[in-house]
Amino acid sequence: MSRIAYVNGRYLPREAAKVAVEDRGYQFADGVYEVCEVRGGRLVDERRHMARLDRSLGELRIVRPMSNAALAIVLRETIRRNRVRDGIVYVQVTRGVARRDFTFPVAGTRPSLVVTARNSDQRSLEDIAAEGIAVVTVPDIRWKRVDIKSVALLPNVLAKQAARERGAREAWLVDSQGCITEGGSSNAWIVSRDGKLITHPLGNDILPGITRSVVIDTIKAQGLPFEERTFTVEEAYAAREAFITSASQTVLPVVSIDGRPVGNGAPGLIASGLRRDYHDHAEISD
Ligand code: PDD
Repeated sequence: MSRIAYVNGRYLPREAAKVAVEDRGYQFADGVYEVCEVRGGRLVDERRHMARLDRSLGELRIVRPMSNAALAIVLRETIRRNRVRDGIVYVQVTRGVARRDFTFPVAGTRPSLVVTARNSDQRSLEDIAAEGIAVVTVPDIRWKRVDIKSVALLPNVLAKQAARERGAREAWLVDSQGCITEGGSSNAWIVSRDGKLITHPLGNDILPGITRSVVIDTIKAQGLPFEERTFTVEEAYAAREAFITSASQTVLPVVSIDGRPVGNGAPGLIASGLRRDYHDHAEISD
């Protein structure tokens, strides 16, 4: 847990860090967020995460709480105060505090900004990566603009809870055509029998993952065959390899889908290689 949180201009100990009951994030999930990896005390892929935050805010017409330069300082200060070496920083912006009314509050209502940061257990993450993870498929019941990184995550919460109850670490979400869109909190990938890396194309039905974009850069730099297209659950069952990508876990090999082993049931060479090489291709901030 974050020991110190930045809340609307102040760094506060966890017990004192509070938001108003009429915050629109609390009442309407009217807000957006980012999760950025911290490695060796430095931000990973900061520029891409900040660009996506700007886009999410713009799509929902939420006012930016501060300039990117000021936010960069707050992120670093929150990391420093929490003594984070390897972990994540979390940024949340909501439309602010106003009397409960569905329509936007009056112009001039200040957005709320919260930043927290915490270390993650690197050893246990490495153990999980070495073993590979199980995923299960569940219907994708989300709204039609999941490209916006909104804090409205109830379908993701239910999907990931269902996965946990079935002994899996991640849920793969399946659309009405029987195609896998993405994970509950990650992008989904397979390596086909003929060795092609495949992931769902960008659009309104997946989050444009930052880790996904860096992995695509890596794949292109390494000259691996790559296709951005939809793939079905059956294709995933038949895949040679599968993996997920997200800022907090980079690349994690998937070794079973709905209880069926992927390939030989061990982490694949391509997924393990992409995990090993990830930070050579990511941008590490000062
Ligand atoms: N989750 N898809 C969904 C639905 C996500 O929630 C996430 C990230 C991703 C991967 O995006 P990125 O590579 O930019 O982290 C894809 C974050 C880590 C979270 O909610 O904790």
